[in-house]
Amino acid sequence: MRSPLISPSILSADFARLGEEVRAVDAARADWIHLDVMDGHYVPNLTFGPALVKALRPHSAKLFDVHLMCSPVDRWIEPFAKAGADILTIHPEAGPHIHGSVQAIKAAGKLAGISLNPGTPAKMLDYLIDEIDLVLVMSVNPGFGGQSFIATQLKKIEAVRKLIDKAGRDIRLEVDGGVNPETARQCVEAGADVLVAGSAVFTGGAGAYAANIAALREGA
Ligand code: DX5
Ligand code: ZN
Repeated sequence: MRSPLISPSILSADFARLGEEVRAVDAARADWIHLDVMDGHYVPNLTFGPALVKALRPHSAKLFDVHLMCSPVDRWIEPFAKAGADILTIHPEAGPHIHGSVQAIKAAGKLAGISLNPGTPAKMLDYLIDEIDLVLVMSVNPGFGGQSFIATQLKKIEAVRKLIDKAGRDIRLEVDGGVNPETARQCVEAGADVLVAGSAVFTGGAGAYAANIAALREGA
């Protein structure tokens, strides 16, 4: 089993020092940086917009993994693409036309991800899998960091792994929510290759980030 990529979610970082926090996880050998965009409508929380992504861009050369929890999402694709996102991941339920939104992400020259909420079946991917670069399985309901991992999602990770292998293209399988060294292992066994972690990374101060990230890789 290959060691997974780790994408720390800055949702759990110190918002008053975000540039420093991004540099700290970059130096602590994060593979990607996960940025959770919440609109207070699709999810019951509000975070930040493209201006913040643009402001953080000079702080790390690592891939910006932007998770858009916004409805409707289309109007945000270009602004986040221009702000420096590398991957734009969207939710089918956020609509209105998921296939068209994927096309818009690709037209903006970015990698396209589809995120499946805990209640959303893997089947949702049937007519999208050939168009996308990443599947994000949510192992908590979107909106907040620090929630507990929903174990029923492991079966979905297995199902998505099969779909990806069948598709035969380079598609990443990312898991987001409640990931710690123990659940990291279960996710990777089920077929995940990218792990998002907020609270498990941003705990103990910047001096602990390298060990926190290493613990996730080693757990897996
Ligand atoms: C939740 C977000 C997650 C969140 C994960 O809606 O998509 O990225 O930050 O946080 P933890 O790792 O604390 O569950
Ligand atoms: Zn996320």
